[in-house]
Amino acid sequence: MTKEVKTIGVLTSGGDAPGMNASIRAVVRTAINKGMKVKGIMRGYAGLLQEEIVDMDGTSVADTIGRGGTILYTARCPEFTTVEGQKKGAEICKKHGIDGLVVIGGDGSYRGAGKLSALGVNTVGLPGTIDLDIACTDYTIGFDTAINTAMEAIDKVRDTSTSHERCSIIEVMGRHAGYIALWCGIANGAEDILLPERYDGNEQMLINRIIENRKRGKKHHIIINAEGIGHSASMARRIEAATGLETRATILGYMQRGGAPTCKDRVYASIMGSKAVELLAEGKTNRVVAYKHGEFVDFDIQEALNMTKDIPEDQYEISKLLVR
Ligand code: ADP
Ligand code: F6P
Repeated sequence: MTKEVKTIGVLTSGGDAPGMNASIRAVVRTAINKGMKVKGIMRGYAGLLQEEIVDMDGTSVADTIGRGGTILYTARCPEFTTVEGQKKGAEICKKHGIDGLVVIGGDGSYRGAGKLSALGVNTVGLPGTIDLDIACTDYTIGFDTAINTAMEAIDKVRDTSTSHERCSIIEVMGRHAGYIALWCGIANGAEDILLPERYDGNEQMLINRIIENRKRGKKHHIIINAEGIGHSASMARRIEAATGLETRATILGYMQRGGAPTCKDRVYASIMGSKAVELLAEGKTNRVVAYKHGEFVDFDIQEALNMTKDIPEDQYEISKLLVR
């Protein structure tokens, strides 16, 4: 027998991502249209444990679809990884009448949602991260905006790099995942793309390619380096010393996490937010909404967490063919 959900809570957790507001807005407005109440939980699981819970209605999310960041704020909460923290969280949900919860975040946030589900709070997760590193889905909220932001910035660095005939190392986000680096590498025509999943630390190979490309008449050498490899400034110094070419490092940093979401992020995040409420309204729990093979689908949280994915090898190989 499915239990009727009367009040939905929504929170954002982990790193923020452009499009989270579009999801929050869709959750709030879909739920209200279905006759449910909505409560916003501030600052992720940390705010849940502090009972930072506010009533939301249609106007709470007015003028938010185009805003970056998250109007609910976000946080990381070590206390919630403990059994006591999770029990306290479930009790607080019950105290506030929250019988369905939408958690927007990454794998870590899904783990927390799974724990709440086991404690009787119906939960659905939405994939919110600029990193695209959630295995069950081909799309994550914020990735499209982040790559477009980074791409525009890299175009600008490329202009000055060409004018000065320099080598440029541009560091993009992605501590464990190289999707942003790969996409920007292709979009910006980078001569080298260093991915945490692939880079073997062979700097001499890089140096050889830079020298070879210069001999062939290339006016710049753009290296996209993922945050997980890091050390862009010292790498630039070593490359300059070895090649004799002026080499500069630019770290794009948190600008990639902010800004108005792209059309794709607004639309997909909205659809996912609405689907999450539909799942809860059907009495489902312990699910995540995903986008797979061109369709919006949902998976069991544990099944989703057990999935793996890797950088598509063919895309990585193609990126190399396009700059030689
Ligand atoms: P993301 O959701 O982007 O992967 P984190 O890994 O930092 O980000 O996780 C966000 C939050 O989710 C953590 O601060 C913590 O409160 C909660 N969380 C992470 N792992 C677990 C876990 N194993 N059990 C319960 N809660 C977790
Ligand atoms: O997960 C998104 C992300 O921006 C990663 O690319 C990056 O490694 C991490 O978050 C940085 O997180 P923090 O906000 O804790 O510095």
